[in-house]
Amino acid sequence: MKYALITGGTSGIGFAMAGEFLERGYGVIIASSSRKNLAIAKRKLEVKKSKIVNNTRYIITIEQDLSVPDGAQKLYHKAKSIGVDIEILVNNAGFGLMGGTESIRIRDDKRMIQLNVTAVVCLCKLFLRDMYENGRGKILNVASTGAFQPGPYTSTYFAGKSFVYSYSRAIRQEAAKRGVVVSTLCPGTTRTKFFEKAGQKTPIWAMSAEKTAKIAVDGLMKNKGVIVPGVINNILRIVPSGVKMYFVEILKK
Ligand SMILES: NC(=O)c1ccc[n+]([C@@H]2O[C@H](COP(=O)([O-])OP(=O)(O)OC[C@H]3O[C@@H](n4cnc5c(N)ncnc54)[C@H](OP(=O)(O)O)[C@@H]3O)[C@@H](O)[C@H]2O)c1
Repeated sequence: MKYALITGGTSGIGFAMAGEFLERGYGVIIASSSRKNLAIAKRKLEVKKSKIVNNTRYIITIEQDLSVPDGAQKLYHKAKSIGVDIEILVNNAGFGLMGGTESIRIRDDKRMIQLNVTAVVCLCKLFLRDMYENGRGKILNVASTGAFQPGPYTSTYFAGKSFVYSYSRAIRQEAAKRGVVVSTLCPGTTRTKFFEKAGQKTPIWAMSAEKTAKIAVDGLMKNKGVIVPGVINNILRIVPSGVKMYFVEILKK
């Protein structure tokens, strides 16, 4: 059986993607920093998918904090030691910090960059080597529509997502020659724990995590380079970045 390893698979988009992969016949390895969240997520996936999954080996959990140095390397070694065929890597784990840049503590920004950016790069490098050796595999990196313009009052978060977007598109071109697919998911506002954790209310126009996940996995399977869920998010891509920055400032301040 082929497995999808999903970082941040305990809630929101990552959890919904785990459900999508299970429905498509994959086993899933969900990784997160919390043993408790992993146990809850595993139980929910088992209940939700009991009709198609009666063997709990289809759902494997790994506890690993990816916001610490070497977190990605540790996750890679833990995943490899399970000894299953990891066909798909989804770099989804992430969080956002909001506020004026001077007001966000350096150590919090560093943790976020480690999780949202550095861990993504390290996991891509480690898994790409294996995938190149096998001549197959797929990687889905989760950026954001925030990757398309700078984000006043959420500056490091948006800049990190721009990095993920640029890096993913670049390695997609390299990987295509080696039989490996790399796609970038750029969700717009999605109903998850993301805003609550950032101390904000989830906007009413947010898309459901399930819808985002379905579009994301469909796009990966169709070898789409950049996946932007929703018509409005696609239209917003062509709005001049100065105009979008003005509205981001109003929303985040
Ligand atoms: N929601 C949106 O509007 C939106 C829009 C664009 C992009 N995104 C991106 O989508 C991705 C998923 O976010 P979400 O909206 O689904 O938010 P979420 O519901 O808060 O899920 C975040 C996931 O990341 C995991 N995580 C957080 N810190 C971690 C750490 N230190 N080490 C390992 N895992 C960690 C969490 O697991 P634990 O807490 O159990 O560790 C959780 O499973 C993120 O990259 C986010 O930037 C979200």
